[in-house]
Amino acid sequence: MPSVFIKTYGCQMNERDSEAVAAQLVAKGYTLAPSEAAADVILLNTCSVRDFAEQKAIGKMQNIAADVRKNRPDVVLGFMGCMAQSRGQELIDRLPDVDLVLGTQKFHHAADYLDEILAGHRDKIVDVAVEPGSEATIREHLLNGNAQKSVTAFVSIMQGCNQYCTFCIVPYTRGEERSRGIPDIVAECRQLVSQGVKEITLLGQIVTSYGKRGGSSREAKVESREPENFLPSTLDSRPSTTKSPFVQLLDAVHEIEGLERIRFTSPHPKGYGDDLIQAYARLPKLVESAHLPVQSGSDRVLKLMHRGYTRERFLGIIKKLRRARPDIGITTDIIVGFPGETGDDFEQTLSLAREVQFDNAYIFKYSQRRDTPAAEMPDQVPLKIREERNHRLLETVNEIGKRKYDTFIGRQVQILVEGPSKKNPARMTGRTRCNKIVVFEGSERHRGQLLDVKITRAGSFTLYGDPAVVSL
Ligand code: SAH
Ligand code: F3S
Repeated sequence: MPSVFIKTYGCQMNERDSEAVAAQLVAKGYTLAPSEAAADVILLNTCSVRDFAEQKAIGKMQNIAADVRKNRPDVVLGFMGCMAQSRGQELIDRLPDVDLVLGTQKFHHAADYLDEILAGHRDKIVDVAVEPGSEATIREHLLNGNAQKSVTAFVSIMQGCNQYCTFCIVPYTRGEERSRGIPDIVAECRQLVSQGVKEITLLGQIVTSYGKRGGSSREAKVESREPENFLPSTLDSRPSTTKSPFVQLLDAVHEIEGLERIRFTSPHPKGYGDDLIQAYARLPKLVESAHLPVQSGSDRVLKLMHRGYTRERFLGIIKKLRRARPDIGITTDIIVGFPGETGDDFEQTLSLAREVQFDNAYIFKYSQRRDTPAAEMPDQVPLKIREERNHRLLETVNEIGKRKYDTFIGRQVQILVEGPSKKNPARMTGRTRCNKIVVFEGSERHRGQLLDVKITRAGSFTLYGDPAVVSL
């Protein structure tokens, strides 16, 4: 059977999609090639969020095509995912060596299409159509990819986004919000736990909107189980006895016996109603960690971005989260140089970063995306200024992060051991509940264990545990 190599660009959703495609191909008898040089099929799963990510994937495909066409003309080349969706046929017009272009609602057809191409029945295939029900097709896992037990797994709960932030291409590449039903998701999670998974990350482009549109979950009124945990609401007009579908899903996943930890990404700040804050307070498996993309600290820019919250509202959510879980680790995404962003707007972003004290922040220089409203806005910020702001914000964020990580030195923390460290496979690695990577000198038998480790040193966004005090 042919062998396949998949290279993934972009976010965790893309990682998950690639895993599902690989698992489907393996189930059909394909093998996974260790590198592109040894593969019969090479697929690039692409990202469109910034122009740079697209250029990287296109450049990579050009290199692969030049090499493969000279030496191994039968190798099948394909683009999948966001750039495949947004550029479609154009990719083959530009790179005639490409055989397959597979959109974001079509991953589950990869095996059939490759079979047809490999058998010579079809020359080129471009499929970027909308497909109802595709939100429930990312379900296969490759739990034994490295012949070892997987401790953590990603589960896709929804596809698409209807927020239409003015800078963002995702609503166009991923389509309308569509959610899987709760029983379907819970069944997948149960299966993973029965195979040894201890931590599940629920995935979607905007998970806090889970079940609000499309799919089989609908908002339902449920009695609040622990009204004493109620925190007064200023954020959400929803009555305290009503749980959003997302919180209902968290409740349902939380019931799974043997599951130790639940994470999710990415939420939207506007989805942090009191029901979700209460969920942090009452669900012990929901770890104290939140990735809350803020994008800007200026109300004027937030409005131009169509984010749907103000700086004050965002700060209010952070305060409530920290009241519910004082140890919570909070990370964010920030864009610098959005069109019209003035020096003063940028100062407000800097001051927000200082005020919140994020554990880490992913900073992006604004990138014009085709067909998005922001691309047409006046006062596009010159690259030099975007770079300067990126640099200044990065310095601030790194300084704050360093201080935060240093506070862990001398503390005992619980980690879930995931496997050997990528940088140094002689060591093991795990993550704290607040999502900090900890490297320690353990062994394979620690994999899958919840261990208490004493932190001895903090590096750049990594903690180191002392092997002498690992409790065995
Ligand atoms: N909710 C999605 C967002 C996807 S984009 C998720 O987290 O998966 C991820 C991040 O990329 C956004 O939070 C934003 O900070 C950044 N981003 C999106 N569009 C961008 C653009 N046009 N230029 C620069 N950064 C962008
Ligand atoms: Fe993009 Fe905004 Fe949705 S950043 S993914 S349009 S919440």
